[in-house]
Amino acid sequence: MKSQTQVPVTAPRIRDAKGQGSPLVMVTAYDAPGARIADEAGVDMILVGDSLAMVVLGYDDTLQVTTDDMVHHIAAVARAKPRPLIVGDLPWLSYHVSREETVRNAAALVRAGAGAVKLEGGRKRVDAVSAILDAEIPVMGHLGLTPQSIHALGGFRVQGKQLDSARAIVDDAIALAEAGCFAVVLECVPDGVARMVTDAIDIPTIGIGAGRHCDGQVLVYHDILGLEDRNLPKFVRRYADLRVAATEGVSRFVEDVQSGTFPSSDETYHMTDQMGEAFDLYADVTSVGVPPAR
Ligand code: KIV
Repeated sequence: MKSQTQVPVTAPRIRDAKGQGSPLVMVTAYDAPGARIADEAGVDMILVGDSLAMVVLGYDDTLQVTTDDMVHHIAAVARAKPRPLIVGDLPWLSYHVSREETVRNAAALVRAGAGAVKLEGGRKRVDAVSAILDAEIPVMGHLGLTPQSIHALGGFRVQGKQLDSARAIVDDAIALAEAGCFAVVLECVPDGVARMVTDAIDIPTIGIGAGRHCDGQVLVYHDILGLEDRNLPKFVRRYADLRVAATEGVSRFVEDVQSGTFPSSDETYHMTDQMGEAFDLYADVTSVGVPPAR
């Protein structure tokens, strides 16, 4: 999928990448600069995830984010016109109430610029998946640790550690694939479970904390780049420490302003000599006390 052509990535292309050998790469992004960076880096998919709630909007969990919030950020990502497929997360309660509301909310994300939507849950979401597919919108599933169920799950912890729960995840994945999802995220499950799911379905599995037996991997942009000083789960690999670099940059700006070394003459727009003289004259005539031009 790492072609340098500008042909936009579509959901059918992602589905067809199963078994083609090259792992799929997805990263989250929430704004236009993030989308441009992800695109230039060569990812296949940009997920405008509801992790937006924590990493950008400062909430404690994903439950606070609304469809309007998602629309706002998907539109920002879409304005960068990235080549990767834009997947928009359907937030909590946007697909739980009725088929009509589900389709309207999915359509709002597509009108904002998403090429597909993602929702959490397995067999109990098959009806929602089929309603969205009826509206011609591709759907990505999400199984394992589903953060929108945090209260029902009793906390953020690895899922599928027991035989029954592992089997349930496999059955859920089969149901989502049969319902027509083009891919499924597997979050925080043992690698053996991820392998079972990956072998059991004919659509790509995209892992996060699910080991290497998936058809692709996803991580959160702010985690990869070290933009936040928060405790990261062990499955995150940090590729940069941008928080340190950014804090250092802003601190140097503070120092330069406070010490009077910013702005320098080169960083300043100067009047022409002629304009300076005219200004001095004007100040003399009007006695407004305009300081002489330098
Ligand atoms: O919202 C999100 O960022 C996600 C990923 C963790 C898969 O759903």
